[in-house]
Amino acid sequence: MEQDQIKVLLIEDEEYDVRRIKNTINPYRERIQIEEIVSTGEDALRVLEKNGSFDVAILDYQISGGLYGERLIKRIKIIDPSIQVIVITKMTVNQTDLHFANQMIESGAYWFGTKYPSDIEDFIYQPTDFILTILNAAEKKRLELEKMKSQNRLDKKIDRIVQERPMLGNSPSILKVREHISKYAATHANVLITGESGSGKELIARSIHYQSARRYDNFVTVNCAAIPDELIESELFGFVKGAFTGASEDKLGLFEQAHHGTIFLDEISELPYQAQAKLLRVLETGELDKIGRKKSYNVDVRVISATNKDIKELMKQNRFREDLYYRLNILNIQAPPLKERAEDIRILIDYFVGHHCRDLSITLPSISDEAWSILQHFEWPGNVRQLKNVTQRLVILSNDTISKATVDLALDVQSQGSGAALTNPVFSSENILPLRDVEQSFRKQYFEFVRLHSHTDTEAAGKLGLAPPNFHRMCKELGLK
Ligand SMILES: Nc1ncnc2c1ncn2[C@@H]1O[C@H](COP(=O)(O)OP(=O)(O)OP(=O)(O)O)[C@@H](O)[C@H]1O
Ligand SMILES: [Mg+2]
Repeated sequence: MEQDQIKVLLIEDEEYDVRRIKNTINPYRERIQIEEIVSTGEDALRVLEKNGSFDVAILDYQISGGLYGERLIKRIKIIDPSIQVIVITKMTVNQTDLHFANQMIESGAYWFGTKYPSDIEDFIYQPTDFILTILNAAEKKRLELEKMKSQNRLDKKIDRIVQERPMLGNSPSILKVREHISKYAATHANVLITGESGSGKELIARSIHYQSARRYDNFVTVNCAAIPDELIESELFGFVKGAFTGASEDKLGLFEQAHHGTIFLDEISELPYQAQAKLLRVLETGELDKIGRKKSYNVDVRVISATNKDIKELMKQNRFREDLYYRLNILNIQAPPLKERAEDIRILIDYFVGHHCRDLSITLPSISDEAWSILQHFEWPGNVRQLKNVTQRLVILSNDTISKATVDLALDVQSQGSGAALTNPVFSSENILPLRDVEQSFRKQYFEFVRLHSHTDTEAAGKLGLAPPNFHRMCKELGLK
């Protein structure tokens, strides 16, 4: 494989030593190219500013002029942080002077060595060592550039993640949340986020992670309510092969996946009592007991948890451990309900209307004053999530304009709960209905639901597996047209 040439800037003011250096690297002259030779610090900086493609600078410590040594190394590294500086000094510097060596390295040098005495005419240093040092320095430069590039890529990726879901709002309570986020992001302390459903708890948790020093590592989300009690420990902490029947291979726990990053324990109030004790141990010691593993395992994880329940009440009922609560709630953020920050409603609706229109390729509708008034006075029990869903309906239902009627329809459907689950009180022993009525009611709700999730009636008909004319007729029968 052909290797890249290593470009060297030589900073040396004695002809005799320039010759000795050239001679020392002579066997590698194909690979190691001395591109420029300068005799003062000022000239070195000038050359570097003009031509930024050097890999290595070989620098004589004692050169003429006022700019030399540590100061020069620092200036070189400012111009080009990835260039590697090799320092050579005269014998006058005590070879065992560790303080001197440290000073060199601290100011940014890669390596330093003492020149051979001047009666050795051929070499400046033991040639193989000197050549190897230059090769290694060039490799270090390559790796550093590589690292800078991937860091750059990661930063861009994180920017994209953050921009995809911005935290909107200008109300005093949102400003305070943002202020807390940036303060807390600067620490590693655990955070408990409280707030109503849909008010932005997860968004807050993400924002803390992506602003913190942990942002290059994982943000792992766990919904404590979604994992069956008997699986929660193995999900969180993992197990080793053979720990129990059926454990056919090692399982990495979520805490291990979040190592050096952040774990987000959503709906923490639902964590079973037994698992609470295990979690407490992890938080207290940073040690994790994997099922079936004798030795415990160290993890460095920041825990952000969230709840929409009143944990203090659960503690009174002995359903949540007080000691765990204090460990989780070192820092606290309250996600403000939307109804307490009405001034944000307009900003959010504007944003989500734009977002959904782009998403669904629909032209941006205008919103009538009457429509605005209803939206602004609505209580939004489901907070921003509800607002986001309603906006999607508004966009789908609108024809150029979002009118009062559109809003009424969107909010009405919302309050019937047909967004996610159909709420048909079918199985009620007090009120057993004829099959025909139950079917009729179910059909109506389901048709409405599918229409809301389709751009056109033809699409809705397709989703329902009906020919468009039949769909149309049935809609009429159901009073939907
Ligand atoms: N201030 C905000 N600006 C923009 N979008 C927001 C804001 N707050 C919340 N959202 C959006 O609203 C939706 C719900 O937010 P999120 O999931 O963070 O709420 P939550 O409090 O975790 O809800 P739940 O209690 O139901 O889990 C998400 O799509 C989120 O991106
Ligand atoms: Mg949530």
